[in-house]
Amino acid sequence: MRWLIAGANGMLGHDLVVRVQEDGHDVVAVDRPEIDITDPASVAQVVRDVDVVVNVAAFTAVDKAEEEEAAAFTVNATGPQILARQCAQIGARLVHISTDYVFGGESDSPYEEEGLLEPKGAYGRTKAAGEWAVRVNTSDYLIIRTAWLYGLHGNSFPATMARLAESHPTIDVVTDEVGQPTWTVDLADLIVRLVDAKAPSGTYHGTSSGQTNWNGFAKAVIASIGKDPEMIKETTAAAFKRPAPRPHYSVLSHGALERIGVAPIGDWNERWNTASPVVLPR
Ligand SMILES: NC(=O)c1ccc[n+]([C@@H]2O[C@H](COP(=O)([O-])OP(=O)(O)OC[C@H]3O[C@@H](n4cnc5c(N)ncnc54)[C@H](OP(=O)(O)O)[C@@H]3O)[C@@H](O)[C@H]2O)c1
Repeated sequence: MRWLIAGANGMLGHDLVVRVQEDGHDVVAVDRPEIDITDPASVAQVVRDVDVVVNVAAFTAVDKAEEEEAAAFTVNATGPQILARQCAQIGARLVHISTDYVFGGESDSPYEEEGLLEPKGAYGRTKAAGEWAVRVNTSDYLIIRTAWLYGLHGNSFPATMARLAESHPTIDVVTDEVGQPTWTVDLADLIVRLVDAKAPSGTYHGTSSGQTNWNGFAKAVIASIGKDPEMIKETTAAAFKRPAPRPHYSVLSHGALERIGVAPIGDWNERWNTASPVVLPR
């Protein structure tokens, strides 16, 4: 099969290109300037003669989106609309990556795939619009929501913690935001497994299993670099004033995967133990 990955230079894109090639497929890996997903002419020119299109391109600057919601909307909603129409035209399957930010973030039980979308900030609003743009413009799609991504190629949380640990005796990390740290390599693997399994069109959750808070994840990161996890101190989100609201609860359930017999990503802590030598090479 021939795959096209839009946004191939991003954190997830890097690992996805490698994983799809490992699976024996031809890959057209594009990012700006080869493609602009917000430009129909660019998409029509580049997205052709492929069987699967994965959209990992996005406006991902959550705080900046509060100031620039129109620009974020163009990339996160109009872009997927254009890609979905092109996929429908050429008969390609569209895999579109979305986010936990489409939910309200105040639940106390895992969000299900068909749960109510009630984003609290601009980024989440534009990503929710992108989901609907996919659903109404093509019938052959997989929407995969992920969250708390970390990887080798990008400004990820583990790299930030490891850097701070070199220069600070203690680090304050919040305890009141709960989620599922997810390795880009694991999400790339899930994307390939879903496509290989010819999963029915629909919405799936692509996060690790289990749950923790940022403080717990920080402790796991610090332990993995041989430092004392007790250097991570507790604080709350109220101490960090940021332009965009963060969800307090971002745990996603994996019922849709289980119903089609595709294994969810394993427990976040076990996966971190596997990921850490790759993500934080020493
Ligand atoms: N990172 C997370 O924790 C997280 C959590 C939940 C969901 N997600 C979702 O996962 C997906 C991948 O995230 P990521 O962290 O890998 O993103 P990323 O590192 O920010 O990469 C996104 C890529 O898309 C490119 N891009 C932006 N606008 C474009 C356009 N108009 N046309 C073509 N390419 C464009 C960017 O190029 P420039 O650098 O030039 O802008 C960048 O290379 C996104 O859909 C994101 O919403 C991420």
